[in-house]
Amino acid sequence: MPTKATKRSPRVKPGQREEETLRVLISHQRIRERVRHMAEEIRRDFPNEPIHLVGVLKGSVLFLADLARELGGEVSFDFISVSSYGNGMDSTGEVKMNKDLDVSIEGRSVLVVEDILDTGLTLKYLLVLFEERKPKHLRVAVLLDKVERRIADVKADYTGFVIPNEFVVGYGLDYDERYRNLPDVCVVRLGPRGKTKIEA
Ligand code: IMP
Repeated sequence: MPTKATKRSPRVKPGQREEETLRVLISHQRIRERVRHMAEEIRRDFPNEPIHLVGVLKGSVLFLADLARELGGEVSFDFISVSSYGNGMDSTGEVKMNKDLDVSIEGRSVLVVEDILDTGLTLKYLLVLFEERKPKHLRVAVLLDKVERRIADVKADYTGFVIPNEFVVGYGLDYDERYRNLPDVCVVRLGPRGKTKIEA
């Protein structure tokens, strides 16, 4: 029986809080510039066309909000929530839907907005699901891509940053539901028990 992992997070026993060290990997400034360029690229591919953003809860929320404002033109959005199952940092490949989309995507130009592409199993599940619903176009934008962790044969059409195989938080991404509000993307590392330390 697989255990539910809300997020693929560093291994910590329940109730245990270790010292967490955060190191800025990608500053908010760099994120802003990259998101602006991604939006330009997307708009070039879909000029004068309504774009329906589908955000994968909850990690994509800040990315989607910034991307939507940079896109301009006619933009709508909807959200889906899924859980992947596994132990600690490993995935079994089992994905379960918690909340489906509110509206049909049939005939629409859909852009799936994901925070991070890791094994790719979540995105694979979503693409199979969405293809069946006959959108006019189905594209994917991810902020971060951990290329070396990939298991499923998927890739994004628009990628913000390729990052190394490190656990990251901030700009929507969490560790145990914390740090989503950090403006920068940071690498989180566990150390001896203590408090959170943020390195400049
Ligand atoms: P995948 O199915 O393995 O590609 O996992 C995608 C999901 O795992 C993401 O949407 C995140 O919620 C979570 N995830 C993977 N890596 C990280 C990370 O480094 N930090 C926070 N969440 C992560």
